[in-house]
Amino acid sequence: MGIDAVKPSPVPIKEENSSNQSTSLLSFDTDISTATTAAEPSTTTVLLFSLLLSTCIALSAAVAFAILFFSSIRSTNHHHTSTAIQIARPLTKLTHPVVILISSDGFRFGYQFKTPTPNIHRLINNGTEAETGLIPVYPTLTFPNHYSIATGLYPAYHGIINNKFIDPIAGDSFTMASHEPKWWLGEPIWETIANHGLKAATYFWPGSEVKKGLWDCPVNYCAPYNESVPFEERVDTVLNYFDLPNPDIPIFMTLYFEDPDHQGHQVGPDDPQITEAISHIDALIGRLIKGLEKRGVFEDVTIIMVGDHGMVGTCDQKVIFLDDLSSWINIPTQWVKDYTPVLSIRPPSDQSPSEIVAKMNQGLSSGKVKNGDKLKVYLKEDLPKRLHYWDSDRIPPIIGLVAEGFKIEQKDLESKECGGSHGYDNAFFSMRTIFIGHGPRFPRGSFQQWVIIICKECAFASSLTPFLYQEMHKPIINLLDVPRTIEF
Ligand SMILES: *[C@@H]1O[C@H](CO)[C@@H](O)[C@H](O)[C@H]1NC(C)=O
Ligand SMILES: *[C@@H]1O[C@H](CO)[C@@H](O)[C@H](O)[C@H]1NC(C)=O
Repeated sequence: MGIDAVKPSPVPIKEENSSNQSTSLLSFDTDISTATTAAEPSTTTVLLFSLLLSTCIALSAAVAFAILFFSSIRSTNHHHTSTAIQIARPLTKLTHPVVILISSDGFRFGYQFKTPTPNIHRLINNGTEAETGLIPVYPTLTFPNHYSIATGLYPAYHGIINNKFIDPIAGDSFTMASHEPKWWLGEPIWETIANHGLKAATYFWPGSEVKKGLWDCPVNYCAPYNESVPFEERVDTVLNYFDLPNPDIPIFMTLYFEDPDHQGHQVGPDDPQITEAISHIDALIGRLIKGLEKRGVFEDVTIIMVGDHGMVGTCDQKVIFLDDLSSWINIPTQWVKDYTPVLSIRPPSDQSPSEIVAKMNQGLSSGKVKNGDKLKVYLKEDLPKRLHYWDSDRIPPIIGLVAEGFKIEQKDLESKECGGSHGYDNAFFSMRTIFIGHGPRFPRGSFQQWVIIICKECAFASSLTPFLYQEMHKPIINLLDVPRTIEF
């Protein structure tokens, strides 16, 4: 096998194309009549049955829904009716829509079948799901994906291009504890809500503690990250918001659980510990449902449950060592900003990145480097366009894509561990996660295929400047089971 071995398996990720039928369907200019025309079987059959879970889904299906609700408030205020409002089931107890966005970190698509998950399945059966999973953005890492969900932007445009990285201009480092606004670009949902004088609440979400616009992590509505807080306490805090007088109930709330990512890293995706973690997550969803029912608001509240990425088993037999390339080129550790799975190299300015890439690939494809055919190195501009991973100074000039489940290390330390990892190409099925929706605007008893496209601009990501790209906060949701376009 040659370099082709690194190519992702042929899962159907649709390359966005501004001129194709699906995109024109999703145009901002699409009005109701266009949507109706689009509903003709002749035009939509392909769309209906082709799984159009494009990368745009990962670009925050959740955002779209949250904002959909939020926007409907605005729409109501402006005496503007949209199809969304007509279709939605009326609220019975709440006086405004509420969205709870739940993230279960590292919830690989398929985990929901490992063990009985009656509560998660109650949401699915009376709501909807992405039947073949949610495709995360590349890199399939926690911070980039959570912040894409919150902003609807690809990492290159929201700035969180990895869990850790260096600002090449200022020279300072971003870590998962960095709350300075300079790192966090784009406009997260909670900021949009705060800027409109409405209430949001975050019980953990990457970026939620950062001051943005009128959002300044308000006391009692924004929990500072503390992984020791028991999951049950997190659920109960969210439930307590529903005991406030109706106007004070936040319209949007987040809830975050570190599991099953935590176990997945330690033992890989196929261990009984994962099964236990899934049972626990299901019990927490049950606790939430029960609490909402007790308050008579379960049917009024929209619950969106997502993960941020999947998980794949890794073992130390499956490694590529950079030192093995030394006959072709020396890669000093100082050049390497991240090893695995997102190999990120920033050579000093007197070195030619394209020469480095050429020499590395020469070595990797020589047949003389162990697992050399499992890594391919690119100038970031030359990465597959579907990854949208180049248009930021923060992304180092050289990026390596490694085969599923493989690791990259500097040298052979003869470590023997096996565990799990993520961060790989988002075309790998193992990187997929879940999308589940339940609430007044989700079709009931579904099993229909949802297609959720957040922004027309996603299609033009590579040709837009980051500034223009932030314009995407006019998302469009297209539900192909009952074709309609909701514009706001
Ligand atoms: C599903 O929704 C219907 C209609 O609101 C409701 O009567 C039923 O109890 C729900 N079933 C479950 C399991 O939640
Ligand atoms: C984090 O949460 C734990 C458990 O609730 C608590 O004991 C601890 O004081 C918290 N830490 C901080 C810094 O608030």
